[in-house]
Amino acid sequence: MGPGMGGSINKINVGGAWTTIVHASTSKHVAPAEQRNKLCRYMKMLSRKATCHSHGQDSSYFLGLQEYEKNPYHEVHNPSGIIQMGLAENQLSFDLIESWLSRNSDRTNFIENGRSIFRDLALFQDYHGLPAFKKADENLNLAVNINSQVLAEFVEEIRGNKVRFDPNKLVLTAGATSANETLIFCLAEPGEAFLVPTPYYPGFDRDLKWRTEVEIVPVHCSSLNHFRLTKSALEEAYQQAQKLKLKVKGVLITNPSNPLGTTMTKDELHHLITFAVAKEIHIVSDEIYSGTVFDSPSFVSVIEAAKIKYPKDTTLWSRIHIVYSLSKDLGLPGFRVGMIYSNNEAVISAATKMSSFGLVSSQTQYLLSKILGDRKFTKYYIKENQRRVKKRHEMLVLGLKKAGIRCLKSNAGLFCWVDMRHLLRTSTFDAEMELWKKIVCEVGLNISPGSSCHCSEPGWFRVCFSNMSKETLNLSMQRIKAFVDSINGGRYGQNDARSLCSSRSKKVTCYMGFIIVKICLST
Ligand SMILES: Cc1ncc(COP(=O)(O)O)c(C=O)c1O
Repeated sequence: MGPGMGGSINKINVGGAWTTIVHASTSKHVAPAEQRNKLCRYMKMLSRKATCHSHGQDSSYFLGLQEYEKNPYHEVHNPSGIIQMGLAENQLSFDLIESWLSRNSDRTNFIENGRSIFRDLALFQDYHGLPAFKKADENLNLAVNINSQVLAEFVEEIRGNKVRFDPNKLVLTAGATSANETLIFCLAEPGEAFLVPTPYYPGFDRDLKWRTEVEIVPVHCSSLNHFRLTKSALEEAYQQAQKLKLKVKGVLITNPSNPLGTTMTKDELHHLITFAVAKEIHIVSDEIYSGTVFDSPSFVSVIEAAKIKYPKDTTLWSRIHIVYSLSKDLGLPGFRVGMIYSNNEAVISAATKMSSFGLVSSQTQYLLSKILGDRKFTKYYIKENQRRVKKRHEMLVLGLKKAGIRCLKSNAGLFCWVDMRHLLRTSTFDAEMELWKKIVCEVGLNISPGSSCHCSEPGWFRVCFSNMSKETLNLSMQRIKAFVDSINGGRYGQNDARSLCSSRSKKVTCYMGFIIVKICLST
């Protein structure tokens, strides 16, 4: 579950009226008038930011995560629980990192040349995040940072060493979440807009908009061309922003895409770059999944594409910014290590100053500088991890195929973009929610509905495959097949979830209804 989730009140909207969503399971505790008034008075004492609901946590993506938390699957203790397929976590290669750690126990014990560096680490602080690290320098105080050099080399390795990353153009951040927000703070004013191709990662509604007060204008991509980015879709979104009187400051892409699991083609990158040149706007490319590309075509970063297409246009280069983190490729979202890479000196300078609000702790920096500094290990890790992601991807695609469900053809990511349009009662988002609730509550699989990713067509779902064991993935496929078979046999609705899949011993208990309580402010 993401940071700051939980609690029974899901939404509070400040304005003439406050709207609170109280979970159905706690509805018997709905506050009486006096308590509600107390809550309202309390909320009025807080800032607009603290009480507005633009955080986006009431999206079905987050609600699904909350449902899972109430009844998580466990093969022994809760075999009928909900299987988590809504989290793009990479648990496939932990053993590789764990064995590195056991071979390098000095590093985990903070021992350098036979002496403890605990005190150096405990005292170390650099509010600008990235003091230069010189490889030859044996001074421990300088060596504590996961330095730009080591991180830059890792990012180069992921790209097959075809591109150079200059360590001086890199800012360390607390994950990609912080990197994206920091960039938006650097590039846009409140009330300005970024265009974002759909479907997109649901967290962007929080990361790009909430604190910055910048707007997202969706670039609607269609299943007719496999959700590829087109010139006309970009232009339409731009026109839409103009209609809304929003100044467009840039386009933010995710390459490889979350939730599509596809890398952008040269044509798409070409359209994007040409568009950014014509409109004189920025491009932010979130490349958090760049190390998961397991099949051709290989990954091409927008910065490489721009340098090939416009080899002399340094102004364009200075409007392209890359986001990356170790959360997906290394499977370390808890370590909170991300970065911004930009050719724009002013952006690097501002982002460096801003990074003091979300620095990575010194012991994390130290440990990762040692892991990433072992280039033989990282080389092996990247290849082996990609091989494992590919195998898992194949398992999911095959399992779904057996249930008569197809996926968008993909070559990257920790998930598939799954087409369940044929299972909808009608081709509407209401029907998508209905199907989603059945899949979460009755089938016991937490997947993410396309609407939570702002997909403009109902019936698509994101299904994650790398945050569980093979056995759990197999069970999830059995459950979905039993569900589809029961629909096809016209039996669905007569059976409870228990009979859908023999391996589940009791019905999944799930309360997906949310009671909307309006609390009016008597000011
Ligand atoms: C496209 C994208 N960007 C950013 C993030 C956030 O990553 P981090 O954990 O590094 O903050 C995610 C996480 O799922 C993501 O999918």
